Amino acid sequence: MAVYNLTVNNKKVKVDVEPDMPLLWVVRDFVGLKGTKFGCGMALCGACTVHLNGEPARSCQTPISSISKTDKITTIEGIGDGQLNAVQKAWIEEQVPQCGYCQSGQIMTAVALLKSNPNPDDAAIDSAMSGNLCRCGTYDRIRKAVHRAADTMKVSGNGIGQK
Ligand code: FES
Ligand code: FES
Repeated sequence: MAVYNLTVNNKKVKVDVEPDMPLLWVVRDFVGLKGTKFGCGMALCGACTVHLNGEPARSCQTPISSISKTDKITTIEGIGDGQLNAVQKAWIEEQVPQCGYCQSGQIMTAVALLKSNPNPDDAAIDSAMSGNLCRCGTYDRIRKAVHRAADTMKVSGNGIGQK
């Protein structure tokens, strides 16, 4: 076991865990944030996507020992500062989720996409989202929601509460 000082959703947390424990389990079982999901456990499905310093990261394949105390971890619970951000609102308005299991990972990837490309076309969306699998096949609605969020952000200039 080893002690790690982490910054999760702008809060300092300390955990005492095995060094090879994936960030996913630290976030869920030790920090208590259950929005990040376990899917494949092999970096193949994207269900476990969080942001590490603003970039999407597969938390199932990120050992806690690879995280430094200056790294910023953001989970689905932290992207809106206690409110829904533009992507989450668009997800609701387009009624994207079916079973919902993949959706927090999808949203985390979409938030990162819109940060790097505020006006993605369909091809850019498909490319950015291609690593996030949805067994329910919500891909068309995901595409629409990303466009809607991009439009909202053009008007409001906010909504991406990314840390
Ligand atoms: S659970 Fe991490 S990519 Fe599938
Ligand atoms: S909504 Fe069911 S797996 Fe994506």
